[in-house]
Amino acid sequence: MKKNILVIGSSNTDLVIQTSHFPEPGETVMGGVFSTFAGGKGANQAVAASRLGAKVTFVARVGNDDFGRQAIDGFDKEGITTSHIFIDENEPTGVASIIINKDGENTIVVAPGANNMLSKTDIEAIVSLVEATDIVLVQLEVPLETVTFVIQLAHKLHKKIILNPAPAVKLDYNLFSYLDIITPNESETKILLGKKVSDLKSASEAAQVFLDKGVKNVVITLGKQGAFFKNDHEEYLIPAIKTEVIDTTGAGDTFNGALAVAISEGKSWRDALDFSNKAAAISVSRLGAQSSIPFRKEIEAIDL
Ligand code: ATP
Ligand code: RIB
Repeated sequence: MKKNILVIGSSNTDLVIQTSHFPEPGETVMGGVFSTFAGGKGANQAVAASRLGAKVTFVARVGNDDFGRQAIDGFDKEGITTSHIFIDENEPTGVASIIINKDGENTIVVAPGANNMLSKTDIEAIVSLVEATDIVLVQLEVPLETVTFVIQLAHKLHKKIILNPAPAVKLDYNLFSYLDIITPNESETKILLGKKVSDLKSASEAAQVFLDKGVKNVVITLGKQGAFFKNDHEEYLIPAIKTEVIDTTGAGDTFNGALAVAISEGKSWRDALDFSNKAAAISVSRLGAQSSIPFRKEIEAIDL
C-alpha cells in the first residue's frame, strides 16, 4: 500500500531562459529560448514523491491568479491532494526567474509572493493532516517561523521529519534534534554550519556536526559526485549516476522527494540513496523542474 507523505512548502512558476552564458552586470545576452515550467521547491518535491510512488498531500499558498490556478490544476492531475492549498487574495503566486547556461547550470531569483504568507495559522488548520501522515517533508522556501512550527508539531505527533534546508538560512540548533533526516548540499552545509565541504573527509566532519547537534541521519548531496550519508552506525558516498546534463534545476528536489518515498517504504539506506540518485540523475538530463521529474517505472528501468 502507498505510504502517506505530507509536503509543506513553496509553489512557484518558473520563467526560464536557456542561453549560452550568464550575463555580466549591465550585459544583454541575445538568442535565449524561453519556457515556462511549474516549480517551487515544495511543489517539486511533492510531485517527485507522487510520481515515485507515494500518496502525497501538499500544503502551500498561491495567489488568486492564473499561475496559482495552473499550479493547482497540475497537482490535481498528478493525483496530489490539494485540499489545503490556500489561495492568497493579496499576494501573487511565487515566481522564479531562471537562467540556464550551456552547461546546464542555473542562476535563480525568486519572488516568493504568496509563499511568504504561509503562516502558523495555516498550519494550525492542518493538524489532522500531520496526524494522518507517515512522513513530513519540508524546505526553507516559506517563512522560517512556519517551518519551525511544522517541525515542532510533527515532532510532538511522533512523525518522521525530513528537512531539505534549501535555500539555506542559519537555523536554531535546537531544531536539529527533531530531525530524522537533513539533506543539505555543499553550499547549504556551509551556511548552516560555517564548514566548507570539499571532499569526503570534510563531508564526514560536517555530517558529524549535524549528528552531534541531534540530527539522526545526514545526507549531504554533492551534485555530480552523488550523495554522502552518515548516521551513528555507518557512513559512505553513493556515487552519482553518469548522465548528460541538460538542466540541474530541481535535481535536489527530485532527490528529496525520492528519498522520502524510499524511506516511507522501509528501504535500506543504501537502496534509498541509490533510488534517489537515479531519480535525480534522470531529472538533470531533462529541461525544467517538475517537467524533468521521472515516474517510478523509469527508475525501475535503469539497469546498472
Ligand atoms: P539543485 O539546486 O540544482 O536542484 P542541489 O544543489 O540541491 O540541486 P545537488 O547536490 O546539486 O543538489 O544535486 C542533488 C542530487 O542530484 C545529487 O546528489 C545527485 O544525486 C543528483 N545530481 C546532481 N547533479 C548531477 C549530475 N551532473 N549528474 C548526475 N546526478 C546529478
Ligand atoms: O529547486 C528548484 C526550484 O527553486 C525551482 O523550481 C524554483 O522555483 C526555485 O524555487
